Amino acid sequence: MFPDHRPRRLRTTPAMRRLVAETSLEPRQLVLPMFVADDISAPRPISSLPGVVQHTQESLLVAAAEAIEAGVGGLMLFGVPGHRDAVGSGADDPDGVLNQALASLRAEFGDDTVLMADTCLDEFTDHGHCGVLSVDANGRQRIDNDATLQRYVDMALAQAEAGAHVLGPSGMMDGQVGAIRAALDAAGFRHTSILAYSAKYASALYGPFREAVGSTLTGDRKTYQQDAANRRESIREVSLDLAEGADMVMVKPASLYLDVLREVADISDVPVAAYQVSGEYAMICAAAEKGWIDKDAMILESLTSIRRAGADIVLTYWAAEVAARLSR
Ligand code: PBG
Repeated sequence: MFPDHRPRRLRTTPAMRRLVAETSLEPRQLVLPMFVADDISAPRPISSLPGVVQHTQESLLVAAAEAIEAGVGGLMLFGVPGHRDAVGSGADDPDGVLNQALASLRAEFGDDTVLMADTCLDEFTDHGHCGVLSVDANGRQRIDNDATLQRYVDMALAQAEAGAHVLGPSGMMDGQVGAIRAALDAAGFRHTSILAYSAKYASALYGPFREAVGSTLTGDRKTYQQDAANRRESIREVSLDLAEGADMVMVKPASLYLDVLREVADISDVPVAAYQVSGEYAMICAAAEKGWIDKDAMILESLTSIRRAGADIVLTYWAAEVAARLSR
């Protein structure tokens, strides 16, 4: 009797839908990005990221404990230094805000969670770029790729020394994964992993993050981050990072780049991460605040879609909250 095929049979009850769901979302797949700042005496709210704060060293430990208790897979740390200079000296200073935070988190939690660090200079430079600047033959300021690699190496060694399990080079300099891998191995950090921000686009979705880290950037990052128009370029970037020794690769942002994520997942032979970035978070918060969308449903839908597109691991500012919700 017509219709011959009735796909709705598999949608009849919650139990049936649960049985046939192709994609799952589990706490262990979620990584919480966290900010730790100098010169504050109490956690400081970030207005464009409701519910996210810049932490003090003390409040960071409390929030990290809560996230670990909720079952998140890892923490990704960003530092907000009190002092910035042209080469980002705070980045490889063992007493710098980020390295201090990594050391105290590792001392407190050991190997109970996976401790990740953003390996990039932009939070530490006074010009806000992800690399160091130099002047070319025509008198124009450029982001100096190879001089930046040396700074990333110094930063990576400091972060590994401080206790990070995973380094996340996010500056999109050519050769950054290979340079960091070689330096880690030479210094005996053979087991420190690299999560390469392989396909990172120059995106307007990073707006709230710039507030979160007090960025001084003027202009843009279009000479190093990728053009939203390009898809094949991501395959090239991922292939290079895999050849250079990346242990995991990432696509960023997530929601607007699900096509890229799918293709990367299809070719990668290592775990694939995606970063639901600050603007993705902020847009959902803003629409929910107006009562225009159901926030809880939107959060789960967005994260499930990122998983469905191919992410094994999702970085999201909702990691702890969603992990707690999923475990209940
Ligand atoms: C660079 C970095 C950025 C983000 C993560 N790492 C900013 C940028 O590239 O401009 C953005 C994350 C977000 O928007 O949530 N260190």
